[in-house]
Amino acid sequence: MKFLVLVTLVAAAFGKNLPNQNARISKMVTSHGYPLETYRVTTEDGYILDLFRMPHGYQNKDQHDSQKPAVLLMHGFLSCCEDFVAGGPSQGLAFYLADQGYDVYLGNARGSPYGQHHTNLDPHKDAAFWRFSFHEIGVADMAAIIDKVVSISQQNKIHYVGHMEGATVFYILASQKQGYNNKIEKMVSLGPIAYLKKSPHPILKKVAENYKSKSWVIKNVGMSTFNPSSELTSEAENQCTEYEQTEQICHNDYFLFNGYNSKNFNETTIQHVIQRRPCDGSVRQVLHLAQMKETGRFESYTYPEKTDAYKYDLAQVSAPVAIFYTPEDAFSYVDDVETLAKELPNVYKKEVKSEYTNNLDFLYAENIYKFYKYVADSFQDDERKSSRNMLY
Ligand SMILES: *[C@@H]1O[C@H](CO)[C@@H](O)[C@H](O)[C@H]1NC(C)=O
Repeated sequence: MKFLVLVTLVAAAFGKNLPNQNARISKMVTSHGYPLETYRVTTEDGYILDLFRMPHGYQNKDQHDSQKPAVLLMHGFLSCCEDFVAGGPSQGLAFYLADQGYDVYLGNARGSPYGQHHTNLDPHKDAAFWRFSFHEIGVADMAAIIDKVVSISQQNKIHYVGHMEGATVFYILASQKQGYNNKIEKMVSLGPIAYLKKSPHPILKKVAENYKSKSWVIKNVGMSTFNPSSELTSEAENQCTEYEQTEQICHNDYFLFNGYNSKNFNETTIQHVIQRRPCDGSVRQVLHLAQMKETGRFESYTYPEKTDAYKYDLAQVSAPVAIFYTPEDAFSYVDDVETLAKELPNVYKKEVKSEYTNNLDFLYAENIYKFYKYVADSFQDDERKSSRNMLY
């Protein structure tokens, strides 16, 4: 009895209530008649991450076998696996792929609501928990997650879909731990982020101008988790209101950071996304982006230790990569995506999707299932037909 009370108290004091969080994603998937399995992954540096699996779709219930191709979906900054199921079966990439016969896995990065456990750090008490950028998400989280998916699915190679920073972390992993290229059948990048030189992103520009001042960072970016001041977001908010969208978008850090200027958003889905609890990101993720914005390079994080930055060598990313991007995204700007594509040695497909506005459209635009067909088709492409230099 005493023990039970203690456990309850401890959970109330520190836990972000993981069971409830898992009940959320479970409801978002199973209420539509789709299956969801839960796994846990522990990284080499002690982060404990939830990994979810949809082994089959709504119709093909009997097809629960190890012959199915596996696909891992990875979310971007200030987000989590809910991205791929937020609007239900007609809007979510995870549902679409499960129905198409894929064994679907949903990854979660450290710091997301499904990545706030650690073998010895407490995210609510230990600032050290938040001392990571997307570098660690790439080399540690993605390595552990990919290993787990390979092991559960019993496939030698899996497909990987990365949305925005979910693509960044793949390039970092594949350039730093090159063996992972061999575990990937196809990598599909949706609005990938690597170079930021030309990006007109109002928040990043401001952070890039000021990030070397510690007091400015604490005041405007945050201490451990990203907690932007109204001064930092004001320009984005002003631009946002010009698009005459629901006011909520223009007060939501996730949209202010990742993209608000879309004419295509499905309003119903957007309401679901806004209602979900805000997803945390680390200050260091933003500072790392700011550093890359300032230097114009895709490189490791140096501040404040001031060690020498090293370039992420994209020539090492030998996995076959498809890239889909949009014409008006402020974060993953067209010119920067083209620079990235030129440096990747094995791009077998690169398409700007002009029917969409920004990269959040890939998750939330109306009738987006039409686009999901392109994603599934690009798993089927035989990249050997398109020689690696054909695109340029
Ligand atoms: C908009 O999203 C809702 C769920 O969020 C979905 O039921 C509806 O079909 C979507 N509409 C379009 C046109 O995509």
